[in-house]
Amino acid sequence: MPNLLLEVRNIRKTYGKKILAVDNLSFHVMEGEIYGLIGPNGAGKTTSLRIIAGLIKPDGGEVLIRGVNVHESLKNNRRMIGYLPEEANTYPLLTGMEHLKIYGGLYGASSEDLEFGARITGLGNRLLKKTSEYSHGMKRRLLLGAVLMTKPRLAILDEPTSGLDVHAGVSVRKTIRNYVKSTGAAAIVSSHNMLEIEYLCDRIGLIFKGKIIEEGRPRELIEKYGVANLEEVFTLLVRGVES
Ligand SMILES: Nc1ncnc2c1ncn2[C@@H]1O[C@H](COP(=O)(O)OP(=O)(O)OP(=O)(O)O)[C@@H](O)[C@H]1O
Ligand SMILES: [Mg+2]
Repeated sequence: MPNLLLEVRNIRKTYGKKILAVDNLSFHVMEGEIYGLIGPNGAGKTTSLRIIAGLIKPDGGEVLIRGVNVHESLKNNRRMIGYLPEEANTYPLLTGMEHLKIYGGLYGASSEDLEFGARITGLGNRLLKKTSEYSHGMKRRLLLGAVLMTKPRLAILDEPTSGLDVHAGVSVRKTIRNYVKSTGAAAIVSSHNMLEIEYLCDRIGLIFKGKIIEEGRPRELIEKYGVANLEEVFTLLVRGVES
């Protein structure tokens, strides 16, 4: 039986007085699982992931990784969590390899870790070029390699495939799957692309206006609602919520 890795319990976050970005959100992720947080722009995905990564405090609720509260143990987070922000950038004057070394230095990566990260990027010799010469997709792959290099038990990946073409998107999805299946770690992946997530995630939570409105395995949800894909599941549910 796989073990419970992450428990998110009733987290809430309001920006200013009015914007309820995350509204009593709860879910869990098991070791070896890829969980997708799927929903439209502004649904609360990034805010939830930042809370789970320990970067912002929720107004209420708690986040536990192997039973330890992430907002009370920064040292534990550093060992356990890898976080790929939605809008991460690179230093243009540094090469890809220099990025991996700097990031690895912060996390105490070994030379094997560096090699592992370099392989994940799939950039080969292009790692020796300055990142000012990289395309968006190459930068995204580099940053993914940097995050997974230290083998975090929980990889929190905010829109890892955003802005990637079909080919690069497929390759990043394969990388995430291979990582999770070969290390037994877990990943949470956010996306507003419901079709790609169908192929990547073991379980998904559909998030709308800060709440998870449905959860389950992609295939099971599609069968439950008798539709062709997750996009149609979402459309049906949102109609229900709004009427
Ligand atoms: N720093 C902030 N200050 C004020 N409001 C914010 C802030 N960050 C997010 N919000 C608001 O909180 C809500 C949720 O935003 P969030 O970025 O979590 O959504 P998202 O699901 O990641 O969207 P996207 O798909 O566009 O990335 C939105 O209404 C947004 O305007
Ligand atoms: Mg976002």
